Amino acid sequence: MLKIKDKKLAVPLLLAPMAGLTHSALRTLLLDFGGVGMLSTEMLSARKLPVESPRVSPYLVRTAREAPLAYQLLVTDTREIAPAITALHRLSADVVDLNLGCPAPKVRKAGGGSSLVDNPEKVRLIIRTARSLTDLPLTAKIRLGQRLDEPSLRDFCLMLQEEGIDLVTVHARLSGESFARKPRWQWVGKVKDWLDIPVIANGGIFSVEDAARCLEQSGADGLMIGRAAPQKPWLFAQIAREIYGISVDECQINLPWIYSRFALGLARFRPERRLGRLKEFTHYFALNYAFGHHLAMAVQKSSTLLLAWQRACEFFSRSDAEKFKDVDVEEVEKALMGKSVSEAVD
Ligand SMILES: Cc1cc2nc3c(=O)[nH]c(=O)nc-3n(C[C@H](O)[C@H](O)[C@H](O)COP(=O)(O)O)c2cc1C
Repeated sequence: MLKIKDKKLAVPLLLAPMAGLTHSALRTLLLDFGGVGMLSTEMLSARKLPVESPRVSPYLVRTAREAPLAYQLLVTDTREIAPAITALHRLSADVVDLNLGCPAPKVRKAGGGSSLVDNPEKVRLIIRTARSLTDLPLTAKIRLGQRLDEPSLRDFCLMLQEEGIDLVTVHARLSGESFARKPRWQWVGKVKDWLDIPVIANGGIFSVEDAARCLEQSGADGLMIGRAAPQKPWLFAQIAREIYGISVDECQINLPWIYSRFALGLARFRPERRLGRLKEFTHYFALNYAFGHHLAMAVQKSSTLLLAWQRACEFFSRSDAEKFKDVDVEEVEKALMGKSVSEAVD
């Protein structure tokens, strides 16, 4: 049983925070399959969070069943922390996660994400401040650093633990390494050896076999899954069953129907926020088809949501005709064209 501070997770499988992807529509889709121990938001600007509306902001819209939910903060200045933590208490966050790994140039330039690792004293202050303001579990997500440097990584990780971080997730790549590079899962094992708090391995898990190999090489306390979540939303359930022996109902994998469930979830967002999110999801989901690039391209090129949905339906009716019969095209169309049905937590 994975425990983060006093919070017990039923399955040691975590959804990775992903900008543009890990919003309410994807999270509820994952819950339909089960096997996810903890969900996550996208990274949230600690500066903007206090003024965002939970009913309207696509980053904060959430249904009551999306729990436990970690809110990931992107902090660039320690002064942002107190108002951000107050906002997270108001939002009923289950866990507060600190983004210490994002390598995006814009984020680094602003002094956040992986650039913070170059400034351990600033990170120390951020954690100390956050820790003094909340009893919620506090977690951190890191990469391995700018270069492979065991003593620096060890000192950094020990500092995280010393200042009160309750769990560390390690994306097993260096800061500048692309997703094409094989993740260094053994390095997660090193972090695990140094720390007493739980350590989660992240990077490159797309199948039950990957999960088994990652656990074998890292000895991690659990796994965090990113891109495979929009591609194979059923993967958490499979890993939970086959690796952790947890009883999760088997679900039929009907791709057009899964796509339609996701599209229905988009109706929680304001109409102008839906198309971008459908495109982002389709980019990954389309990988399930040998000719999925046709689906991805057709949706990508669509200037309206209705057009995108109709093009996706055309693709499914050609490539997956039998299963497409299960999709209630009109229901989805009506939801997508309708007003927002946000059921944000009060
Ligand atoms: C589109 C996209 C957006 C991401 N956004 C975030 C983010 O907001 N915060 C974060 O810590 N990591 C972010 N990541 C990194 C993922 O959380 C994860 O570490 C990475 O994708 C490796 O895991 P995977 O191989 O399972 O995808 C993002 C990755 C992708 C592909």
